[in-house]
Amino acid sequence: MSDSPFYVTTPIYYVNAEPHLGTAYTTIATDAIARYRRMTGNDVRFLTGLDEHGQKIAQAAEEHGMSPQAWVDAIAPTFKDAWEMLGISYDDFIRTTEERHTRGVQAFWTKLYDDGYLYQGHYEGWYCVPDETYWTGEQLADGACPQCGRAVQFIREDNWFFKLSEFGEKLLAFYDERQAAGTPFVQPETRRNEVVSFVRQGLKDLSISRTNFTWGVPLPFAPEHVTYVWIDALLNYITAIGYGSTEAGELEMFERYWPADYHFVGKDIIRFHCVIWPAMLMAAGIEPPKAVFAHGFLLTKGEKMSKSRGNAQTPASLVERFGVDAYRYYFLRDVPFGMDGSISMEAMVQRYNGDLANDWGNLCSRLFNMTEKYLGGITPAVPDVTRQTAEDASMRSIAENLPATYESHMTRLDYASALESTWELIKHANRYIENAAPWTLAKEGETERLAAVLHNALEAVRIAALFTAPMMPYTSAEVWRRLGLGDIAEVTDISASAVWGGLPEGSTVSKGEPLFPRIYEEA
Ligand code: MSP
Repeated sequence: MSDSPFYVTTPIYYVNAEPHLGTAYTTIATDAIARYRRMTGNDVRFLTGLDEHGQKIAQAAEEHGMSPQAWVDAIAPTFKDAWEMLGISYDDFIRTTEERHTRGVQAFWTKLYDDGYLYQGHYEGWYCVPDETYWTGEQLADGACPQCGRAVQFIREDNWFFKLSEFGEKLLAFYDERQAAGTPFVQPETRRNEVVSFVRQGLKDLSISRTNFTWGVPLPFAPEHVTYVWIDALLNYITAIGYGSTEAGELEMFERYWPADYHFVGKDIIRFHCVIWPAMLMAAGIEPPKAVFAHGFLLTKGEKMSKSRGNAQTPASLVERFGVDAYRYYFLRDVPFGMDGSISMEAMVQRYNGDLANDWGNLCSRLFNMTEKYLGGITPAVPDVTRQTAEDASMRSIAENLPATYESHMTRLDYASALESTWELIKHANRYIENAAPWTLAKEGETERLAAVLHNALEAVRIAALFTAPMMPYTSAEVWRRLGLGDIAEVTDISASAVWGGLPEGSTVSKGEPLFPRIYEEA
């Protein structure tokens, strides 16, 4: 157990549209590690928020006949509501239109300006508004954005530039250094090559300002320019923890939490996070984050899911059908984190009925029912260890190995394997009950053995609830309540809580409704 700080962030989302499964995916994955690290005693700071400036947002506002500020104020609550619905336990929610952010962005540019990293120049090239990205003529694919395939516009402007080209060698050395230390900056490994080869091709200086619209943070030394939205957005990770403030408390917060442990991002925004962002920080004399983890895309029928492709489902419709925990479970269990993953209603129904209704939900209901039926709903005494059978010992050893195995998976953000190892315990407990047949023991009057079997199986349930909690917080809290235990949210040392034998004698177990009622209709 350690109370060391753990700072983790999601990207800040564009407010041109409401949250969808893709943005919810990054957020749920970040939430799962934040929740787990709270259970390992870390001092967690989990930041999410909104990217509210830029041409794309200004355009969306205009299309809706609203001012940009009125538009972002109208959309912002839809994100907060979605995150509440999905049980996202963020500690801070930053909006780039907030004063604390503007102040930090301006402080940052003043520093880079003073230190000679900025210069005025002329920009000519192509711009993709939906991706808010600059492209050269050679990079275009059939005259369109090489990333999203949409139309680009030609820009010719006098802009301010950041001397990104000076950072190529430094970045390569930095990636190597982190790699050699066994704490890679770009994760997973597959993404590293992409970043390194991009930097090796040579970096161009980066235009950091725009003048053809005003919806952004003005450069302090040239207020007719607004900050390029990506550069504005990246700075949220430090402005949210006090960068640019003069208040002692805020500055302490920055000292405590920076550098971030992880920025969670989708693979499409890796260059911004793994090239431009560390270079900006290096220029300002700030240590880059410890790691950027890039996950893959959710694909439906082989295509990236997005609003513009018209194949985006709303999180609300799925939560309504499956419940919030099953929703979270599906995405974390079925899509290996870091890779693209096909998602489908069929697979979701299958996971729900198989893993949740049959395995986990059923284990809980049958045990709680038997505890009531055979033991009057009261947890039995910890069994006499000298009378332990081989079956008892084997379930106990699975439970005792779980904390370390789970930790090693979670350290690599391998949620699917962490869940799989928890499911070994759950499935084993179901088999254990089948083999031990409490109903026969009851019939035959073997009361001592019956109590021992139910105790062991209840203990497996208690421990499984702990390790499913980062992914399915509500169900775990409910299982603990039904076991008559305290608030699972108060666990700050998961390994100590998971020690075998922790279920106290004499607590009252309640049956409750099925945790995951079967879903019958397919798709
Ligand atoms: N505003 C920028 C991020 C700035 S961070 C300093 C942005 N916003 S976004 O709203 O477009 O996307 C945010 C995240 O959602 C990205 O990490 C992106 O990869 C993710 N997803 C959007 N669609 C997705 C899928 N279909 N699948 C998985 N995640 C995808 O980019």
